[in-house]
Amino acid sequence: MRGDCFLEKVRGSMEKQTMTHPTIEQLVSLAKRRGFIFPDSEIYGGFSNTWDYGPLGVELKNNIKQLWWKMFVHERDDMYGLDAALIMNPKVWEASGHVTNFTDPLVECQKCHERFRQDMLEDPSQCPSCGGAFMPPRQFNMMFKTFVGPAEETANVAYFRPETAQGIFVDFKQILDAYSPKLPFGVAQIGKAFRNEITPGNFIFRTREFEQMEIEYFIRPDADWNAVFEEWLSQIKKWMAAVGIDDARVSYLEVPDGERAHYSKRTIDIEFEFPFGKKELYGLAYRGDFDLSSHQKASGQKLEYFDQQAGERFIPHVIEPSLGVDRTVLAVLASCYRQQEMEKETRVYLALPFALAPFKAAVFPLLANKPELVEKARAIFHDLKTPQHFVGPIAFDDGGNIGKRYRKQDEIGTPFCITVDFQTLEDNTVTVRDRDTATQKRLAVGELAEFLRQQ
Ligand code: GAP
Repeated sequence: MRGDCFLEKVRGSMEKQTMTHPTIEQLVSLAKRRGFIFPDSEIYGGFSNTWDYGPLGVELKNNIKQLWWKMFVHERDDMYGLDAALIMNPKVWEASGHVTNFTDPLVECQKCHERFRQDMLEDPSQCPSCGGAFMPPRQFNMMFKTFVGPAEETANVAYFRPETAQGIFVDFKQILDAYSPKLPFGVAQIGKAFRNEITPGNFIFRTREFEQMEIEYFIRPDADWNAVFEEWLSQIKKWMAAVGIDDARVSYLEVPDGERAHYSKRTIDIEFEFPFGKKELYGLAYRGDFDLSSHQKASGQKLEYFDQQAGERFIPHVIEPSLGVDRTVLAVLASCYRQQEMEKETRVYLALPFALAPFKAAVFPLLANKPELVEKARAIFHDLKTPQHFVGPIAFDDGGNIGKRYRKQDEIGTPFCITVDFQTLEDNTVTVRDRDTATQKRLAVGELAEFLRQQ
């Protein structure tokens, strides 16, 4: 944490003035312009609702995933990591219920033949595009099919996983055999999932391929599952605070009976006020023993836990916090976007938490045409990248005027800009400008690495 109380106070008061709710167009534009997120295959006219993470986007996304792994795997003593296959034995999806139940109701307009998810239509009787009538709805399975091996025949059908969770259930026995963990314990996994969504859209909110960060937290069947559920809800709140998601835009929906996924006994949808409306950000579900029991039955393998002390065998129950990486990126961008009038200009900056910022600092020479300033700035830049001083990626910029360079770093969320000026050459100090307050202070060059490490 920063020790500078004055800066904290200034930041606090400015936060109130500058909290902004950006439009989706503003976010898409910033993301493309600054290299966070690009339309996929753009030179071929793009590919509908498919996006690529550019150089800064991949840093932001990696930082989110690393922070999640740190908080939920490394900092705990009851968690095991996993990285299972994307295309698993198709029997997994029969046993899990996805082949039968992972469907959305699809309707097709008789007139223009556009297709919609029936449950997402405001008026399910008429086509919103042309006013035509719909054909009778049919259930559309959202799993992507593929064929394993050279022959495209039914016997070779396999599926791209629609959730990472099943990898955890099918590897449960191997974790028991390898580690003999004591209940309660969890298995965590980050990875891609694929869904042939009928109506993808809203930028990276709903796409056909996306990443999930999932935990299956195993408990005794007679445990107070509601208490564990509430504890995971508070962990998710802690997580959202750590990544800078605006608490005022978050709400919690208790999903009623009949609307929950086929496996769930209780679900809370954690919703966020996205620029296009309130939508699900994360899910927290009590899956009971549905998955392990189904896999035990289908595979014929014992998936029971043996409690040595009690001398009991049973199938554990499970609580599942399921977090989308891409929706986290979007909620973080929407929460951290700030717009502020400064010196008769509009300043846009991303108030990203230090841990998420793609660059931790940027180093500039005040003037690009003064070789002695450029040389000194380059030396500081390289020093901050050496293993003993490294806190993360550092940017170097000597293009355009200094104001423009500040604006660029503000827009990509770089917390500090370090400028080498003529005074640096005399006393080896630099200015350090704080992104959120735009205030500057002087620091000795030798203090920089420690200053950044303390953030
Ligand atoms: N294992 C439980 C499960 O997959 P889900 O509610 O279907 O539950 C969990 O998905 C999370 O995955 C969602 O809350 C969301 O963050 C993310 N997610 C789901 N579908 C998505 C999509 N099409 N595009 C982006 N993220 C998605």
